[in-house]
Amino acid sequence: MADTRRLGFGPIAPPSGGVLVVFADDSLRFGMRTRAILGSAADMVAKAAKTERFTGKSGTTLDIVAPGGLKATRLIVVGTGKADERRPLDDVKLGGAVQGRIPAAASEATVILELASGPLKAEAAADVALGASLRAYAFDRYKTKRKEGEEASAKGRVTLAVADVAAARKAWGLRQPVADGVVLARDLVNEPPNVLYPAEFARRAGALRKLGVAVDILDVKQMRKLGMGALLGVGQGSTHESRIAVMRWNGGKKGAAPVAFIGKGVCFDTGGISIKPAAGMEDMKGDMAGAACVTGLMHALAGRKAKVNAIGAIGLVENMPDGNAQRPGDIVTSMSGQTIEIINTDAEGRLVLADVVHYINTKYKPKLMVDLATLTGAIMVALGQEHAGLFCNDDKLSAHLLQAGLDTGEKVWRMPLGPEYDKLIDSKFADMKNTGGRFGGSITAAQFIGRFVGKTPGAHLDIAGTGFASASSEINKSWGSGWGVRLLDRLVTENYEG
Ligand code: BES
Ligand code: MN
Ligand code: ZN
Repeated sequence: MADTRRLGFGPIAPPSGGVLVVFADDSLRFGMRTRAILGSAADMVAKAAKTERFTGKSGTTLDIVAPGGLKATRLIVVGTGKADERRPLDDVKLGGAVQGRIPAAASEATVILELASGPLKAEAAADVALGASLRAYAFDRYKTKRKEGEEASAKGRVTLAVADVAAARKAWGLRQPVADGVVLARDLVNEPPNVLYPAEFARRAGALRKLGVAVDILDVKQMRKLGMGALLGVGQGSTHESRIAVMRWNGGKKGAAPVAFIGKGVCFDTGGISIKPAAGMEDMKGDMAGAACVTGLMHALAGRKAKVNAIGAIGLVENMPDGNAQRPGDIVTSMSGQTIEIINTDAEGRLVLADVVHYINTKYKPKLMVDLATLTGAIMVALGQEHAGLFCNDDKLSAHLLQAGLDTGEKVWRMPLGPEYDKLIDSKFADMKNTGGRFGGSITAAQFIGRFVGKTPGAHLDIAGTGFASASSEINKSWGSGWGVRLLDRLVTENYEG
């Protein structure tokens, strides 16, 4: 679970033991206080840098065991590159890089948070802490033994040495809930599907009540009453009953319209009767990454007492083949009244979202809706795993999301929508069909969801490429990425708080 408790702040002072981490820029310059701590060891660093060809380039490190003149057992110099090219996001990555260089066996490490230009400010220090704690995450709760040579996950204590400890702790107080939200999202994505089925996911969403979040769980009977034929059709082949969890955080002005986040929570996607091939099917335990993100986000918002009214709603189902499963050719009626012909039971995510989006839109009248879904393989073909696909009916909301993506490194790329695509999902028998053929597969899926969003400003994020199994990064080594929690937390901070 959360590694954030092993992280603390302390004053800039020579450590009495353990690993010492310091920063040098690409001219091998240290900050004043770092230099003072290193003392005569600074000359040794200069010599070692020469033989090791360490130039302080960003992301490179110089590792010195038992450095003379220091009480530390090991000195690690981390390069920060050119001073004037640093951006705020670099602090998060720096934290990840540092955490990654500290040997897993170390029980104690001190990181002097000072660049050549001086000590990091409190905000930057909190960003380093965020990156370090995310990097320290490992999902190993089902490993009962370790193979030889396999590293234990980092268990040591890391002290970030800062100029103003109180200010850093205060800034971290607002970041730590975000880190915990990402960790919660990763845990949910990594959990196996026999453990995390819809009712269990709903129960875990319910755990947010301890943070002051109001959580309502809808069961099948209630959904039937509401007429949610699209969502219920997906879940009808599973022995695990479907659920919807609605999480509400009211930290904003009383009565102010909420911002709403909606997640696809297909706890396992076999494809249903249109069954998927066996190879890689185990990855479909992560088909609830959208719902995981929404849950992690609500944790973050409540944990840092965000001044916003926010709703997180997740549609939880399991898509299974079975005697009772839905068939290609079936026609279902969604809560909105619109009818849908099922062409392919594997295009199930949009069916789930159709009913949750309509329910939230009509019941809570949100000022905007953002949905997240591991919706289409086609978005991976288009964008790879570096960007999520953004589909948006509102230019301002789109600009805000693009900016939040650049700020957090959880990047989105805008894709087109338009009435020309509608004919691809016209049905011979119903108001629409649930697939639009091979061309523009992510667009027709988004166009389908748009029919349930109506005029409310809405964004759809297709996170099939970013939600899991992404190439590991400086701040994530786990399969589940927790993608989107930091993005949407930033969206809220910058545009909807206060
Ligand atoms: N959950 C899948 C999409 C997916 C694939 C997510 C791989 C992550 C990794 C989704 O439900 C799906 O099966 N989509 C189909 C839609 C098609 C049947 C129109 C797809 O993309 O092939
Ligand atoms: Mn599917
Ligand atoms: Zn799916």
